[in-house]
Amino acid sequence: MTTETVTTSIDHVLEETRHFAPDPAFRERAHIKSREEYERLYRESVEQPEAFWARMAEELAWFKKWDRVLNDDTPPFYKWFEGGKINASYNCLDRHLDTWRKNKAAIIWEGEPYGERRMVTYRELQRQVCKFANVLKNLGVKPGDRVAIYLPMIPELAVAMLACARIGAVHSIIFGGFSVNALIDRINDAEATVVVTADGGYRRGEIVELKKAVDEALLKCPTVRNVVTVERTKKPVSMVHGRDLLWSELMDTVSDVCPAEELDSEHPLYILYTSGSTGKPKGILHSTAGYLLGTYLTSKYVFDLREEDTYWCTADIGWVTGHSYIIYGILSNGATTVMYEGAPNFPTPDQFWQICERYSVNVFYTAPTAIRAFSKWGEGWPARNDLSSLRLLGTVGEPINPEAWMWYYQHIGQQNCPIVDTWWQTETGAIMITTLPGVMEMKPGSAGLPFFGVQPRIVDEEGNEVPEGQSGLLVITHPWPSMLRTLYGDPERFKEVYWSKFEKQGWYFTGDGAYKDKDGYYMIIGRIDDVINVSGHRLGTMEVESALVSHPIVSEAAVVGYPHEIKGQGICAFVSVPVGTTPKEEDKEKLREHVAKEIGAIAKPDQIRFTDALPKTRSGKIMRRLLRDIAEGRDATGDTSTLEDFTVLARLREEQET
Ligand code: PRX
Repeated sequence: MTTETVTTSIDHVLEETRHFAPDPAFRERAHIKSREEYERLYRESVEQPEAFWARMAEELAWFKKWDRVLNDDTPPFYKWFEGGKINASYNCLDRHLDTWRKNKAAIIWEGEPYGERRMVTYRELQRQVCKFANVLKNLGVKPGDRVAIYLPMIPELAVAMLACARIGAVHSIIFGGFSVNALIDRINDAEATVVVTADGGYRRGEIVELKKAVDEALLKCPTVRNVVTVERTKKPVSMVHGRDLLWSELMDTVSDVCPAEELDSEHPLYILYTSGSTGKPKGILHSTAGYLLGTYLTSKYVFDLREEDTYWCTADIGWVTGHSYIIYGILSNGATTVMYEGAPNFPTPDQFWQICERYSVNVFYTAPTAIRAFSKWGEGWPARNDLSSLRLLGTVGEPINPEAWMWYYQHIGQQNCPIVDTWWQTETGAIMITTLPGVMEMKPGSAGLPFFGVQPRIVDEEGNEVPEGQSGLLVITHPWPSMLRTLYGDPERFKEVYWSKFEKQGWYFTGDGAYKDKDGYYMIIGRIDDVINVSGHRLGTMEVESALVSHPIVSEAAVVGYPHEIKGQGICAFVSVPVGTTPKEEDKEKLREHVAKEIGAIAKPDQIRFTDALPKTRSGKIMRRLLRDIAEGRDATGDTSTLEDFTVLARLREEQET
């Protein structure tokens, strides 16, 4: 399977004219109180970045201060705060213990089975983290070792990740919705020695058998020595003698004292796998001090977060949003973070709003795909609950269409809450482009202005800046503290994917298309590579194609995205079968299930179209542009001059009509 070369022929058609002024009452008590203050700090952050970041870094707790703020001797391998000694778990927990925060809730947890609730104070969370850190040490886990975590959204997930951070082990969290094969790839790539999982997780009343998936995966994961299983559902699971251990039994036998390891600033904190346009998932590696500073500072200023806030991000911790904005950024600020195990609409479509009311949530962060679903379910559901405690809303993960923005503003924020539309990536670690609440005007569908230290530019293929209002490629021209450090085990691919396109200039290429309006606001259009953004989750078309081709009835597959009302983008798979075979209608469902098994339910194609051939150029490249036209129901109008076999197009359209 080959792909067309990436082009930057990205168009935007939306011209949004509505804008909303910041509320003076919000501004009065905001951390940043005026546009001038933002401008001044921003200017300093780009003109004297080292002085700026050094001052900001003073807000973290250090065992030893750094010798050098930025080491840019060997780009793109930047190092921040070299010589410093720090610990992320200490910053999220211990430093609150000698303040009034010690016995306030760090985590408010709401389980899926109705009425199941837990509140974990900072003191208690620290104790649990120390215990699990001791468990890991007893299992022989050393600083730098990788621990795979495959858990549902339960407090033990936070405990496990912070315990890794405490002893300098590198966590690799694998989203609970991923399947066995995805687990195998990720565990093997990281060469994890311990897996932390649960007997099961709840999803819409069903039990997802996580331990069973781990058992199956471990048949092909030779590096794993031990599996720790949290008893979440208490349903019996098979245990392999000598390898498998129970969380509760281990936690009963260890001390609750475990000093946080004094780690180098650049000590790796975690690996998180994300889809690329080709090949296997990329292991994004984040290190300690810069990442912590980025998530701490953006949480403070973008969410205008205070220690007395109850904050809720609805993401799963299996994605970067959960890492940065359920755990590290929020706990390091000493706020209360809400964790919810269930789905937004089970058993009723107002689960989120009930939770907001129950805990008087102040700051709420979710994804456009969820907002579109809420608006479809109707404003009657939020209206049943008291949402008056909310003072700030946020969105992340994909471009938000202005209508969804307006619905969020009116029916959730009741026209009282600023909305921050935050653009960032797994790779960037923290929010990069956003409005600052109370300070900047909001425009539906526009992310806004760069955060401190972020220097974006919109350029053409040659790196020339494109004029205002014109679309181009979004690059970041200077390093920032929370940036990814490398792709785990593959520095060459790191250079190739992010730094080769603008090698001469030394810019980071985001893979996104964007344009800037007359006020300097950035509008993000979406990916320009072969990555589809399904419900805010990145999937490589290549991954889905590989999964399809691994099924015996498929000879070739091409996958494209198309606009989808709820998910943002849907997945359309064009599948060709071996000559002489005739696919049946029920094969479509079989293939959908096959992809779910290979990758996970999120990757199931929404449409499958059988064809006896795929449209290709003379050099054998699949013409995805034409397939996108067909998937969107448009006539393939673009340039077809290099199409090898015109009859293929006609036949594909026929398939569409049947
Ligand atoms: O295309 C952009 C889109 O999501 C991509 C990053 O995906 P991921 O690494 O999974 O991280 C998601 C959560 C940070 C980006 O390259 N994206 C993310 N936020 C926005 C967005 N597109 C438009 N507007 C946003 N606010």
